[in-house]
Amino acid sequence: MKNEKELTKTINLSTLMHDIFNAIEGESVILQQLLNGLHGNTLDDIKPILISLSEANSNSIELIEAYRNHQSINKVLETDQSSINEVDILNLLNNLYQEYYPLSRTRNLELLCEFSTNYVHGTIALGNRTQLHRMLSNLIQNAMQYTKVGSIYLRLLNQKDDLIISIEDTGIGIEPEDLPDIFLPFYRSKKNDLHEPSRSGLGLYIAKMIAKSHNLEIRVSSTVGKGTEFSVVFPYKKGKYGMGDP
Ligand SMILES: Nc1ncnc2c1ncn2[C@@H]1O[C@H](COP(=O)(O)OP(=O)(O)O)[C@@H](O)[C@H]1O
Ligand SMILES: [Mg+2]
Repeated sequence: MKNEKELTKTINLSTLMHDIFNAIEGESVILQQLLNGLHGNTLDDIKPILISLSEANSNSIELIEAYRNHQSINKVLETDQSSINEVDILNLLNNLYQEYYPLSRTRNLELLCEFSTNYVHGTIALGNRTQLHRMLSNLIQNAMQYTKVGSIYLRLLNQKDDLIISIEDTGIGIEPEDLPDIFLPFYRSKKNDLHEPSRSGLGLYIAKMIAKSHNLEIRVSSTVGKGTEFSVVFPYKKGKYGMGDP
């Protein structure tokens, strides 16, 4: 029993380090771009970038604080009922676009938003904004890491009454035999081990745990050599989007 507790604690700390590392790594790239004048030279030019850097920093601080408060009960990736609020998913996706488009430029990838002008039940869902941001960040980071050329699409659409976030890339794809295991902690496909040796195999585990704590489904479909699509489904129930039944 003690070993299981120790293991959960290690996984929690590793997931925290994973996300803080990715945040700092991304921020360093963006700071370098700002220094090189890539986003313009006046305060007005760079203000949107500064705002998204500052939001990214606040998110990291919030993650560390959540870890500090919860580490004794091992609940870092869980979402308690009291932290569930109304989250505007369209606004969240727009913020993620602001946050990640500078990185997509560095990698010569196109980051594209495809949003509709009308959603059957609006775009407000129930959830914890920081955790949903963390879940989607991991999906977007993967899409950028595993795409050498082409585009990443951020989409928000309705499927019947439900609201679907889709993150699709034109990257290397996932081998069918890897698909059942990709959400396991520390799992990395053998092939990718060679490409990106510094990665830890925790991103999808984090995304899955957050989806689980929100009773959301994550779907994946992938074709090797063509690309991958991850979708998160917010079910429409009793006049609201998400969360589903446990
Ligand atoms: N968008 C993607 N395209 C191709 N492969 C992916 C994608 N997202 C995840 N994978 C595969 O799933 C594995 C697990 O992903 P993740 O948990 O984020 O770990 P990591 O990125 O640290 O290896 C990766 O090693 C990779 O093989
Ligand atoms: Mg990853």
